[in-house]
Amino acid sequence: MAETHKEIVKVWIAPGCIVCDACETDCPEVFDVQEETCIIRPPALKAEFTRPLTPSIITAAEGCPVDVIKYEMIDVEGPEPAEWAAQKEAASAPAGGEAGGKASGGGGGAAAAVSYAPPDPKWVQLLEAAHVSGSRSAGGPRAIVRTAKVQPESIQQALPLGAPPDAQFATMVGTGYTRPGKSVAERIRERAEKVGSGAGMTRRGFGVTVAAAWGALVFVGATSLAWFQSFMIPKAPILPPTRVRVGKLTAYTELGVYEDYKPQNIWVVTLEEEGIKKVVAINTVCTHLGCIPNWLPAAQIFKCPCHGSGFRKTGINFEGPAPRPLERFKVEVDATGTLIVDKGTKFRQELGQWSNPAAQILV
Ligand code: SF4
Ligand code: FES
Repeated sequence: MAETHKEIVKVWIAPGCIVCDACETDCPEVFDVQEETCIIRPPALKAEFTRPLTPSIITAAEGCPVDVIKYEMIDVEGPEPAEWAAQKEAASAPAGGEAGGKASGGGGGAAAAVSYAPPDPKWVQLLEAAHVSGSRSAGGPRAIVRTAKVQPESIQQALPLGAPPDAQFATMVGTGYTRPGKSVAERIRERAEKVGSGAGMTRRGFGVTVAAAWGALVFVGATSLAWFQSFMIPKAPILPPTRVRVGKLTAYTELGVYEDYKPQNIWVVTLEEEGIKKVVAINTVCTHLGCIPNWLPAAQIFKCPCHGSGFRKTGINFEGPAPRPLERFKVEVDATGTLIVDKGTKFRQELGQWSNPAAQILV
C-alpha cells in the first residue's frame, strides 16, 4: 500500500472564540486574533496555502482552549514533506497527521479530492449590491460595514466555493470590506477613559464645563455664606418711628379728647388739673391686658371693651380690673409750634412721673 499523509485544505473558526491569542502564536500565517474573535487570514482560505502549514494549524487547533478551530483534511499520496518535522519541532507539541474529532473531512483511506467550482455568481452579486455584517445570532462577529477597499472580484477570488460562514466573513474583514465593531463593554470603557482624561472634549467645551463648575461652586459658597451670616447676625427689629408729629399745638386749645391719632395709640387730651390747663398725650393701651378702650364723650370716660375697666379723661382708672392709670407719653413743641409726641418715653402716674414737665405742655 502506497504511503500517504494528510494535509489541511480548509480551516475555519466555529462560534465561541475567547480571543486568547494562542492560535495566532502557534500559526500566525493562518490565524488573526482580533478584538472580538479570531479570523482566518484571507490567503489561508485557499487549500494551496494551508496544506504546507498543516502541522502548525493542527498545533493551533489542539491548543485552542475552547476547541473552536475546525479544519478539513485530505489524504495525499507520498510521505510527509521534510520541512514538517521542523514545524512540529517548533511547535514543541506532538502533531499527528490527524486532529481527531476536529477534522471533519479527514480520515484514513483514499485521498478525497476537494472540488473547487467557479465563484457563486449570487455571492458576487450580494457583495456588489449589499453591505454585509456579521451575524451575532449565527455566531459571527458583529461588524460595521464600510466602503469596500477592494473590488468584489478580488473577494470572490479569495473565497473558495463552500467556504464556511466564518471564513467568508474573515475574507471580507481581511479585504477591508467590513470591519468588526467594538463591543458595548469596549465602548463604555473608551467613554470612561475619555471622560477621565478629558480627551475628545473641545477647548470650548472644556472651558464651558470649567466655568459651569466654578459658577456652581461660587453659588454654593455664596449661599452658604449668606445663610451663615443670616444665622449669626442678630436681626434688628424694624420699629415704627416713636416720634409722631400731631399738628400745631394751637389746634388743641379747646378742652377735650382728640382721637385723630388713636391709630397710632395716641389720645391728645386737653384738660385742667389743679386749675392748670395742659395738653397731654395718653397711651391708648389698657393697663389691664392691653386692649384698646373707647372714649365715651357722653360719660367723659375711657371704657375698655375687654373687661370693663374705666378710666377718667385724665387717665386715672376708677373701675374694672385695670391695676393702674393709663400711661402718658412725652410731649414737646418744636420751633414751628408743632406738637410732637414721643412714644419712646412714658410716664406712669403711680410712680409720680406725671409731674415731669416733659409729660405735659401747659397752654
Ligand atoms: S486559540 Fe481558539 S479561543 Fe484562542 S484565539 Fe484562537 S480560536 Fe480563539
Ligand atoms: S384689657 Fe382693658 S379691662 Fe381688661
